[in-house]
Amino acid sequence: MLYLDAAATAPLRPEARQAMLTVLDGGPGNASAVHTPGKTAKATLTHARQQVADALGARTSQVVFTAGGTEANNLALKGVAVANPRGKHIVTTAIEHSSIRKSCEFLARIGGFEVTEIGVDSMGRVDEEAAIAAIRPDTTLVSIGLANGEIGTVQSLERIAEAARAAGALVHTDAVQAAASLPVSFAPGQWPGAAVDAMSIASHKFGGPQGAGALLIRSGIELEPLLHGGGQEAGHRAGTENLAAIAGFGVAVAAVMPMAGTRAQAMMAQRDAFVQRIVDQIPGAKLTGHPTERIPNHASFVIKGFSGESMLVDLDVAGVAASSGSACSAGKKAPSGILLAMGYDPDVAVTALRFTFPDPLTDEAFDQLVGTTLRVLGQHAAATR
Ligand SMILES: Cc1ncc(COP(=O)(O)O)c(C=O)c1O
Repeated sequence: MLYLDAAATAPLRPEARQAMLTVLDGGPGNASAVHTPGKTAKATLTHARQQVADALGARTSQVVFTAGGTEANNLALKGVAVANPRGKHIVTTAIEHSSIRKSCEFLARIGGFEVTEIGVDSMGRVDEEAAIAAIRPDTTLVSIGLANGEIGTVQSLERIAEAARAAGALVHTDAVQAAASLPVSFAPGQWPGAAVDAMSIASHKFGGPQGAGALLIRSGIELEPLLHGGGQEAGHRAGTENLAAIAGFGVAVAAVMPMAGTRAQAMMAQRDAFVQRIVDQIPGAKLTGHPTERIPNHASFVIKGFSGESMLVDLDVAGVAASSGSACSAGKKAPSGILLAMGYDPDVAVTALRFTFPDPLTDEAFDQLVGTTLRVLGQHAAATR
C-alpha cells in the first residue's frame, strides 16, 4: 500500500516507537513522585520538553504538552480568551480547523465573545486587508492557521500580526500542518515566531504517536487551564502526563526538524511532478489551494463530475491510501466548507481529493503512485463521459 495521507497522520518513526517502548518497558513512574522511578519519569518528561523546545526555537518553559493539536487549539483559544478577555473579540478565518472554529463558537455561546471570521480568496489566502481592518483596540486574540490541512495553502501572517501587536491583541497560529513539513520556528525573529505569541503543534504529524501535542506560548501570557486539577505543566494542564506518547513526540520532532528544509525540497519536486501529471492527463482536474505558497508534501484537487468518496475507495483497492480532505471531515458527504469559503460550487466541493507525501518516495514508488492514480482516475473519467 502506498500511504499518501501524511496530513491525516504521518507514519510512526522507528526512533519514536523505540522511545515509547523504552518508557513502557521501563517500569512504573509518575513524573510528580519523589522516589527514584518518579525521578526517571520526570527526567524523560524534561528531556522530551527540551527536544521539542530546541527543535522549534522555544524555551522549555514555553512548552505546554497536550493530548494533541485539537487540545492545543482549544487551550490557545479558550485559555487565552478567558484569562485575557479585553473586549471579548476574536479575529479568525473562514478556513480554520474545526477545533478552532468550534472553540470560537463555544466562546461566543458561553462567554459572550464576538467572533469576526475573515474570508479567503480562491487560492485560500486570507484577505489581509479585511483582517487588519477587523482588529480593534480591544481585540482579545487573532488566530490564523499557518497552513491549511485540506488545501495546503500557507498564510503570511506578518502584516496581520503587526496590526494585532499595535492594538495589543495576542496572536495564535495553528501550525499543526505547517510544522511537520516546513522549517518553522517559534523563536522571536524567525518564521512564524516573529509574528506569533502562541503556536499549536501535534505529534502525529511529525511521525510521533497520536494523542500528544503542545501549545508553545510566550512567557508571561496568562492562560486559564482547560483541565483543572493537579499542578502539572506548570499549572497549565492538570493530569498525569502521557509519558510514553510525549517521549515519542519529543524524539519525532527532534528527528524531523533538522532536515525540514531538505525534506521540503525533495517532497516539493515530487509533489509538483505529480500535480502536473494529474492536471495534464485527467480532464477537469484542478489543483486546489495556492500553486506555490503551499506545504511541500501536499497535493489537492477537485475533479468536476467525479465522486470524491468513490475515487478514494477505488484508489484504496488499487493500493493508494489518499483522502478527500481533512481526516476529521472524511466520511461525510457534505461539501468541504473550506472549498465553499474559497468560492467553489457545492457540486465541485464534494469532489475533493488529497494526496500528502509522508516522505520523499523512491523513484519506483513514485512511478507506481502516478501510474495507479492515473489509471483509477482515468477509469472514473471514462465512466462519467
Ligand atoms: C490544521 C490542523 N489543526 C488541528 C488538527 C487537530 O490535531 P489532532 O488530530 O492532533 O487533534 C489538525 C488535524 O488534522 C489539523 O490539520
